[in-house]
Amino acid sequence: MPRITFIEHDETIHEITAEDGATVMEVALDNSIPGIDADCGGQCACATCHVFINDDWASKIPAREEAEETMLELAEGVTEFSRLACQIEINDALDGLQVRLPAAQH
Ligand code: FES
Repeated sequence: MPRITFIEHDETIHEITAEDGATVMEVALDNSIPGIDADCGGQCACATCHVFINDDWASKIPAREEAEETMLELAEGVTEFSRLACQIEINDALDGLQVRLPAAQH
């Protein structure tokens, strides 16, 4: 099963073993990772699951769709590395994925 590392804004690290097919948001909630509220339950309608995915991993994840782009406009501190965790489905190719959490959501 893929291993996902969540890194909080203060560099606190959470290493989690995830289920294939779950989203990064679901894994975060199931493991009480701070900073992911997911108010809309994964409907791409709140932006409270904003995370940063670095370049090394970005190419392994499908690009943002229009709805995700629109919701990210509501998030704080958005960068080119910003994604909504509810829009990233985990599979074996993402084993070792590192997910950084924004300071604004702690
Ligand atoms: S959980 Fe609401 S946009 Fe991701």
